[in-house]
Amino acid sequence: MAHLREHWFPYLLGAIILIVILNGLSSSDNNKENLLVPSKQTSIVPDIYELSNSEADNLIRYGKDLIENTAKYFGPHGSVASITNGLNCQNCHRESGTKLYTNNFLSVASTYPKFRERSGRLESVEWRVNECMQRSLNGEPLDSLSKEMRAMVAYIKWTGKNIHKNEKIEGVANNELPFLSRAAEVVKGKTIYLAKCKSCHAENGEGVISVDGKSYVYPPLYGEHSYAESAGMFRLSKLASFIKNNMPLGASYSEPLLSDEEAWDLAAYINTQPHPKKIFAVDWPVIRSKPVDYPFGPYTDGFSERQHKYGPFDPIKKAKDIAKK
Ligand code: HEC
Ligand code: HEC
Repeated sequence: MAHLREHWFPYLLGAIILIVILNGLSSSDNNKENLLVPSKQTSIVPDIYELSNSEADNLIRYGKDLIENTAKYFGPHGSVASITNGLNCQNCHRESGTKLYTNNFLSVASTYPKFRERSGRLESVEWRVNECMQRSLNGEPLDSLSKEMRAMVAYIKWTGKNIHKNEKIEGVANNELPFLSRAAEVVKGKTIYLAKCKSCHAENGEGVISVDGKSYVYPPLYGEHSYAESAGMFRLSKLASFIKNNMPLGASYSEPLLSDEEAWDLAAYINTQPHPKKIFAVDWPVIRSKPVDYPFGPYTDGFSERQHKYGPFDPIKKAKDIAKK
C-alpha cells in the first residue's frame, strides 16, 4: 500500500489512458450508425464475432472480406483474377451489406431462389451475385462452385439468418423515394454534383485510386470504370434512393443530407454521363414487365425512352396500372 501511495501518479495516468481508449472504441463510426436505428432492428443483423473457427464459419468470414475488398481479389490487379472494374460490392451494399433501408443482403436468404422479371427465370443467389459481377462491376461471372462464390453466398445468406420466410421487417427492404411530379433535371444535378460530390468522386466522376493503385478510396460514378448501363444503378429510382440514403458520405435513412429532389436530379446527371455500354439482349423477355424507369426500349406503353429515363414517372405508372386491370 505504501508503494501505491508513493507512486500513485503512474497508476492514475494508466487508468486515464485506459478510459480514453475504451471510450474511443465505443464511439467508433459503426456504433454511431447503429444508434440511429431502433434497437429491435439492429439486433436482426447477426454479429460476426459470434462465428467460430469451423471451416464453415471461416468461409463466411472470407465472404465478408470479399464483399468489402472485392477489388483486392478481382479488380484490375486482383490476386485471384482480374475480372472486374475495381469497385467493391460494399461501395453499393454498404456496411458489408447490412446497412438498413439501403441495398442490404438481409432478405436474400429468405427470398431466394426468386423469380425475377429481368431474366425471366428463377434466380439462385449465385446467379444474382454473378449479375452484379457482370453489370455493377462490369466484369465476368464466377464459377458457382469456386471458393470465392461459395464464400460470398455463405456470407450473404448468413446476414439474413434472423429473418424468416414472409417476415416483413422495416429497414430490410430498400427505402424507395416517391416519384417527383416533374422530370429529373440534369443541369440542376450537375450543379449539386459540383458542390457536394466532386470533392470525393472527382471532376469527371472518375473517383480517386488508392496509393497502391489496387482499389478506390472514392469509387468512380461514371466513365469507363463505373457500373455498366445494364446495372440496377443505371435506373434512376435505384440510384436516387441509394444517393438519398448514403451520400454525401455520412448520410443515412434516419439522417439524410439531401432532399428527394436533389437525389433525383443528381441521379439524372450521373446516369446522363457515359457508362460502359453492356446491354444483355435477353433481358426483360416480357416487354411490358419493364419497370417504369427502365431507360431502354422497346416499350408497349407509347411513352418515350426519354420519359422512361428521366420521368415524370407517375403517368407511366398510371397507364401501367390501368393496363393490368
Ligand atoms: C454499383 C453498385 C453495385 C455494386 C458494386 C454491387 N451491387 Fe449488388 N446490387 C446493386 C443494386 C442497385 C441492387 C438492387 C437491384 C434491385 O433492386 O433490383 C443489387 C442487388 C444485389 C443482390 C440481390 C439483393 C436482393 O435482396 O435481391 C445481391 C445478392 C447482390 N447485389 C450482390 C452483390 C455482390 C456479391 C457484389 C460484389 C461482387 C455486388 N452486388 C456489387 C448494386 C451494386
Ligand atoms: C466525403 C467523400 C464523399 C462525398 C462528398 C460523396 N461520396 Fe459518394 N462515396 C464515397 C465513398 C467512400 C463511397 C464508397 C462507400 C463504401 O464503400 O462504403 C461512395 C460511394 C458512392 C456511390 C456508389 C458506388 C459507385 O461508385 O457507384 C455513389 C453512387 C455515390 N457515392 C454518389 C455520391 C453522390 C451523388 C455524392 C454527392 C451528393 C457523393 N457520392 C458524395 C465518398 C463520398
